[in-house]
Amino acid sequence: MEPLLLVKNLVRTYGRGRDAVRAVHQVSFTIQKGECLGLVGESGSGKSSLARLLLALEKPDHGDIRMLGASLVKAKKNTLRKMRQHIQVVFQDSNASLNDRLPVWRSVLESLDNFPEVKPPFLVDVRENRRATSVRLLEMVGLGLEHLDRYPHELSGGQRQRVAIARGISLKPELLIVDEPTSSLDVTVQANILKLLKQLQTELEMSFLFISHDIAAVHQMSNRILVMKDGAIVDEFASEQISEPERHDYTKCLLSAVYDLEQ
Ligand SMILES: Nc1ncnc2c1ncn2[C@@H]1O[C@H](COP(=O)(O)OP(=O)(O)OP(=O)(O)O)[C@@H](O)[C@H]1O
Ligand SMILES: [Mg+2]
Repeated sequence: MEPLLLVKNLVRTYGRGRDAVRAVHQVSFTIQKGECLGLVGESGSGKSSLARLLLALEKPDHGDIRMLGASLVKAKKNTLRKMRQHIQVVFQDSNASLNDRLPVWRSVLESLDNFPEVKPPFLVDVRENRRATSVRLLEMVGLGLEHLDRYPHELSGGQRQRVAIARGISLKPELLIVDEPTSSLDVTVQANILKLLKQLQTELEMSFLFISHDIAAVHQMSNRILVMKDGAIVDEFASEQISEPERHDYTKCLLSAVYDLEQ
């Protein structure tokens, strides 16, 4: 079966000469339809740089990204715009990703507003107005009418992240990239957000690229896991193979850090 996403020999270097950083180095992988692929690695390993390439926010130096057979790297502006509809994102920092001058109900509609030609996938009745669309989306992430007219600073971190998730799913994308969605949240809220993401992924049959430095969270969420170190993928395995002896030393190191913390 043709994968949803195929990434081949991707390279992205920042800076030049002695100061050059190989943020993404010869990275290849696929994501199947409906799959949650986990991406784990320590801070600075290149996870967000890779995400920015997949979102076509930056161009790679080398390599290709193919979505359902078409190249994102070679796509012309118009085609790229259409492809973007199918790859959406939830970033770590909902403080930065939500516009603090927009009330919640407007923030939720930002991605839909970028594609006025697309009929909102979760609209039940075409006569419904924009606000009703927002209410539906917020309902899907467990927020109620009382949150509609609030501004981001009037929400908790977990609630803000729910708004970002509602915006992320609003176009019912083929692929949702979630980059450290729970890093700024406390443990209980973190668990609830992960549960919500898993539930939405199953219900909406989306593929996920789930990015985190927390191998336990990645293990909980993903069918398959990539381990990234210094820009390169050093290990790749099915989630249930996480404790097998052939795991890379670095994977074992990430695992033992979690294990030590739980002692
Ligand atoms: N725009 C940029 N200009 C120069 N260097 C950059 C830029 N973006 C990232 N880098 C460098 O590339 C490397 C990878 O950074 P990246 O943000 O992708 O890591 P990360 O795995 O997402 O880390 P974290 O877990 O902290 O989010 C780092 O060394 C970083 O300093
Ligand atoms: Mg990052």
